[in-house]
Amino acid sequence: MTESEFDPNIIAFCCNWCSYGAADLAGVSRMQCPTNVRVIRVPCSGRVTIKQILTALEAGADGVLVTGCLEEQCHYLVGNLYERDRIAKLKKDLEAIGLGGRVEMYFMSAAMANEYIRVVKEFTEHIRKLGPSPLSK
Ligand code: FES
Repeated sequence: MTESEFDPNIIAFCCNWCSYGAADLAGVSRMQCPTNVRVIRVPCSGRVTIKQILTALEAGADGVLVTGCLEEQCHYLVGNLYERDRIAKLKKDLEAIGLGGRVEMYFMSAAMANEYIRVVKEFTEHIRKLGPSPLSK
């Protein structure tokens, strides 16, 4: 399978208050978005656990995105900051077991539909270059 033929499966955990709104705004604005991204709406990015991310990877996701409110704008004050730290540690652990680069976190507001599209396209291309997850073979 060549890089251009590989269509990655990506799970995007989106905070209800920001990135989900940005994704929704992108949709109603008819912006072009990669169709290989499955959005899971969560009440706050801080609710996304390591176990949920690993479960997504084990179930065949080639990459996992976690998107939360802009720093200092989390509706639960610091959920996004807790998640940022959690993801930073997870990324090191995934690197050590050969799954580096498959998890990323981004911050945005509900008005940032262009940013949502940019992030999704950028991450999709990044995962396309990495190739299929070793867990999905
Ligand atoms: Fe959006 Fe916490 S409410 S990241």
